[in-house]
Amino acid sequence: MNCFRENKNSILILVLLSIFFLEDPVFSENKEIFPKTPLGMDDVPIPEKNVITKAKYELGKMLFFENRLSLDNTVSCASCHNPKYGFSNNRQYGVGIGGKLGKRNVPTIINAAYNDFQFWDGRAKSLEEQAKSPILKKSEMGANLDKVLQFLENTPNYKNKFKMAFGEKTINLDLIVSAIASYERTILSGNSPFDYWRYGGKKNAISEKAKKGFEIFKKKGKCVKCHLVDEFSAPFTDHQFHNLGIGLDKGKREIGREAVTGRKIDMGKFKTPTLRNISQTAPYMHDGRFKTLREVIDFYVQGGIANPNLDPDMRKLDLTEKEKLNLESFLRTLDGKIIKIK
Ligand code: HEC
Ligand code: HEC
Repeated sequence: MNCFRENKNSILILVLLSIFFLEDPVFSENKEIFPKTPLGMDDVPIPEKNVITKAKYELGKMLFFENRLSLDNTVSCASCHNPKYGFSNNRQYGVGIGGKLGKRNVPTIINAAYNDFQFWDGRAKSLEEQAKSPILKKSEMGANLDKVLQFLENTPNYKNKFKMAFGEKTINLDLIVSAIASYERTILSGNSPFDYWRYGGKKNAISEKAKKGFEIFKKKGKCVKCHLVDEFSAPFTDHQFHNLGIGLDKGKREIGREAVTGRKIDMGKFKTPTLRNISQTAPYMHDGRFKTLREVIDFYVQGGIANPNLDPDMRKLDLTEKEKLNLESFLRTLDGKIIKIK
């Protein structure tokens, strides 16, 4: 009898404990999230020191869209990386506080989680490091950091969300960018018609024209040399830097990667961007000079812009009008939907 009561008591305690943990918001908010790997991409790399939790993801998403991180409360990350335009801004350059024009075209943050380097010249290594730059940069969000931290501390919703994500730590810039980077690591694209065709066994997922265009992409156009596609995945970038001559014409001298490494061989090199969701992120190139994919294709047909450091894989291409159209059809099969996190 005694023994039965003891058992009953411990069962009761167990039940109570499990209800407590299931109900405890901090416990469930700290559950780790593993973004679903899109068809055609590898698992997204997540740094051990900044795993994604539900709380961090939700906080990061709020911060990404928060105008009040900027000096005059008008600009957020999403002003330039707008989901409506494939997480870019549909303009030649970034536009910061007070309408200040930046100097470079806004790259998409779609699949930026896979990048070995961030920025066109690769000057940041991680998403965390990268995110600090626009927040503080005078021509972008120009934040007064003390004011931003005060605002977050004094806004109960944020205060609470930071507590859920990071416990009792005082809010600081490192926590802000950890949360934003966690959100960015969920902005992934694959699952495009191209992926269903190439990796999903769906023979009719793309048109015959697009299939021919992919052949040109691989062979005659030599595009795969830099925009990689392999047997199991297609990141459409080699994560390297190349000189195509963009920025070395019109009397300019943009040194690109050389500014980071100080090496002459890096003169005029810029990072190979992904081509995923490319139809949504016009204009193109680091200076946003091309409005359409057709203009980009014509640029490659001409073999880039001659200069002493031009990449050896940049040669004139002999493509017929039909081949150019097919190549463009193929590029338009790379639009995938961003998977929503529940
Ligand atoms: C005023 C416009 C603007 C704002 C605001 C802005 N960005 Fe950017 N972002 C850019 C431009 C322009 C670049 C490329 C700059 C360069 O390479 O020199 C860039 C680059 C990036 C990259 C690198 C992508 C790649 O493939 O190299 C990431 C990631 C990014 N931004 C995230 C953010 C986050 C997070 C925020 C908010 C904290 C933010 N951006 C705010 C304009 C903006
Ligand atoms: C030698 C390496 C290399 C080759 C070959 C190459 N690309 Fe690129 N591609 C790049 C680099 C680097 C950039 C960015 C250049 C810049 O902005 O200065 C780029 C940019 C682009 C862009 C614009 C992306 C954006 O977000 O602005 C498109 C589209 C593109 N390439 C398609 C192609 C196609 C199609 C081919 C084949 C005909 C091709 N590329 C061949 C390296 C290469």
